[in-house]
Amino acid sequence: MSNKILFKGGKVVTDSGAFKADVAVTDEKITAVATAIKPSPDMQVIDCRGKLILPGAIDAHTHLAMPFGGTISTDDYETGTRSAACGGTTTVFDFAMQDFDETFPDTVKRRDALASVQATVDYSFHLAVKDVKGKLLYTMEDAVKMGVPSFKVFMVYDFGVTDGVFYEVLDHSKRIGALLGVHAENNELVNYFTNKFVSEKKMDPWYHYMSRPEKVEGEADVRAINLAKAAGAPLYIVHLADKQGVDAVTAARDEGFPIFAETCPQYLYFTSDVYKRPDARNFVCSPPMKGKESQNAIWDAIARGDISTVATDHCPFLQKEKDWGKKDFRLIPNGCAGVENMYPYMLSEANKGRLSFSKVVELCSTNVAKIFGLSYCKGAIEAGRDADIVVYDPKKRFTVTNKAMHGATDHTIWEGAELKGYPEQTWSRGRLVFKDGKFLGKKGEGKFIACKPIHLKTPDLNNI
Ligand code: URP
Ligand code: ZN
Ligand code: ZN
Repeated sequence: MSNKILFKGGKVVTDSGAFKADVAVTDEKITAVATAIKPSPDMQVIDCRGKLILPGAIDAHTHLAMPFGGTISTDDYETGTRSAACGGTTTVFDFAMQDFDETFPDTVKRRDALASVQATVDYSFHLAVKDVKGKLLYTMEDAVKMGVPSFKVFMVYDFGVTDGVFYEVLDHSKRIGALLGVHAENNELVNYFTNKFVSEKKMDPWYHYMSRPEKVEGEADVRAINLAKAAGAPLYIVHLADKQGVDAVTAARDEGFPIFAETCPQYLYFTSDVYKRPDARNFVCSPPMKGKESQNAIWDAIARGDISTVATDHCPFLQKEKDWGKKDFRLIPNGCAGVENMYPYMLSEANKGRLSFSKVVELCSTNVAKIFGLSYCKGAIEAGRDADIVVYDPKKRFTVTNKAMHGATDHTIWEGAELKGYPEQTWSRGRLVFKDGKFLGKKGEGKFIACKPIHLKTPDLNNI
């Protein structure tokens, strides 16, 4: 017997507007969105009066159980997706890190062996490229055929790629229906500044920021865009956090190049001042939070449409691991938790009037689905799509505390943030996974979502 649910009396939010409508679901799919749908006796009716009905967020950027910084990120696929569900996120993209000498399909299989038994909501992968020597480059298309058409190169860290490899992967990706993402920071400059501050015995967490200031990211953003233009390939810049990069993205898009940028809530809320706090080490991530000018530029770019997505870069570490670098910023594992905070924070900003609810849906769900080839099943409250639904209470007041979070981390950089409105329920393919502060999902119920090949030729996402 099929499971029928009717979300009744709420206001549905899409990327282009909001309207009163009921939403009917049968099993895993939305079957109708219309005014005054009459409940049939076999339907479970969810009273949504006074509530918003939103598509579940799709977090385009998480690092779950990732070996990094001398340890492994704290949340695995179970606790990370549990935390996601409790913040209204119903799909996460995780970075599957290729090993040297490993084919891309083997990387996907290796990570999916963990994710498929642990995930509580749906997931997909981007492939983080380390090694494209010899035949390995050509295994990218095998990954595209498996439903993983997005790749990422790092310009920093000990596994970062050269500009030559970056160009080669860009050039190849455009031929095979793939999209390349990039972590853009200038590695040489990071090393130069780091060595300089260490030699001057300036090693507290403030110098994490000072060794990766605005110009370090800005130069790499500009170079990455130039390489993409030269290769004639689309590019997705992850976790954009600086004004120079924003200006370069805007200019390239104005010229008609398919350049897309993602930013993260931490860059919208915090500035580099956090690195002066006693708990500064907890905020250490790369790129670091920047100054107010960059923060304003990011908000302006969101309003103009030059930033296409908001994602978390969720990569949590325990307090004791962060403490390794109290006196030497080089030893702090880079990354912060955020998967449970993104949608509530962005929606709260909408509720406070900074942007519209539609814009939040566009940034956190619809555009992510469009860019990464998931629009066939995710990213909107629409008949035929998966019943990934958030019932949002705009009246609830919520103060973020780590105690109220559902991940495995022992602290949150969002501690004390005051939110106006909060998700009341999260549904993942028709299953209730979160209600009134409690996680109700199950390990292993999330499934791998195959993405379609990606062919982005212009910055315009309207026809996807
Ligand atoms: O600090 C961060 N962002 N850690 C995760 C890895 C990355 O650079 O995205
Ligand atoms: Zn990164
Ligand atoms: Zn990341």
